Amino acid sequence: MKHNFGAGPCILPQEVFKEAAAAVLDFNGLSILEVSHRHKDFVAVMDEALDLVKQALNVPKGYSVAFLQGGATLGFTIAALNMQREHQRAGYINTGTWATGAIKEAQKMGLAVDVLASSEDQNFSYIPKDYVVPAGLDYLHFTSNNTIFGTQFKDVPKTTLPLVCDMSSDIFSKTINVSDFDFIYAGAQKNLGPAGATLYIVKDDALGKSTAKFMPTYLDLKQQIDKESMLNTPPVFSVYVAMLNLRHLLANGGVPEQQKRNEAKANLLYSEIDNNPSFKGAVSTEDRSHMNATFLLTNEERSAEFDTMWKDAGIVGLPGHRSVGGYRASMYNSLPIESVQVLVDVMKEFNRKA
Ligand SMILES: Cc1ncc(COP(=O)(O)O)c(C=O)c1O
Repeated sequence: MKHNFGAGPCILPQEVFKEAAAAVLDFNGLSILEVSHRHKDFVAVMDEALDLVKQALNVPKGYSVAFLQGGATLGFTIAALNMQREHQRAGYINTGTWATGAIKEAQKMGLAVDVLASSEDQNFSYIPKDYVVPAGLDYLHFTSNNTIFGTQFKDVPKTTLPLVCDMSSDIFSKTINVSDFDFIYAGAQKNLGPAGATLYIVKDDALGKSTAKFMPTYLDLKQQIDKESMLNTPPVFSVYVAMLNLRHLLANGGVPEQQKRNEAKANLLYSEIDNNPSFKGAVSTEDRSHMNATFLLTNEERSAEFDTMWKDAGIVGLPGHRSVGGYRASMYNSLPIESVQVLVDVMKEFNRKA
């Protein structure tokens, strides 16, 4: 078995892989890949998947959940289209590539964007904290976990504005208070399931109030939610596997227990990064992500040697994003702590050889 530290699509539980594989061959006499999305058996899957999201995140009454396609990239557009109001102006916190992408799409949707804070001055290696959120904005957008640079908001930004969040790379990894948000979106392919589905959690009061001049049917969350994520053919297999994965999460203590497992993994790796003189962290300590740990060698000239060692140990997916370099260990929900221990052992051995 490989130790998959890939940033996404990423590891899911082995049990889920097995159940998904079985359903490809036999889902009530058909393959899950050929079943109609209107068939009662799949409608039951969609209903259960939506319900399990609500259970896992304690989604309060007054919020709706939907599965769409298009990834979080289309989420940038859908958020801007659905959340724009009379000001036609929104605040964004720029913490890196994905936040920058969200800003660009909001501008394309006709919004004036105020970048209220940015960590671009230090290559997105920290989470900005000192900023003022002025009135006169339709909403405030942030990216809870910066998958590429390895930073993560530890607290939700304080604001009275409707809060919109791209939670693609840390949803289901720690408890959140859904009522802090008006609009959450997340691509499935980290902690939820395989690529193909995108999750939306939206306050019902926020639906149907957009001032957008044009609103394609597919991108109108009100219509999507009214049709219970069946406005058109949903990503059947991705939703099915997400449902299996959510069942697995809830059977293993839900998000609170998962958070403890994630903290243990992150502590194990970060303490090695801090105590091993051959390595150094790539971002501000207080803003370190529990999902994506980025780190560098103190002696770059030994990179070929380190690369051979971790590859020989069966580790995959460790190189940093091409825009950052160094290394990135993504420790999503399903990565066992044993895999982190394998990486830590390689790091110790690498330092012994120095
Ligand atoms: C935080 C974040 N936002 C957006 C995206 C883009 O997601 P997608 O590929 O689903 O469009 C990613 C992808 O990794 C991400 O990590």
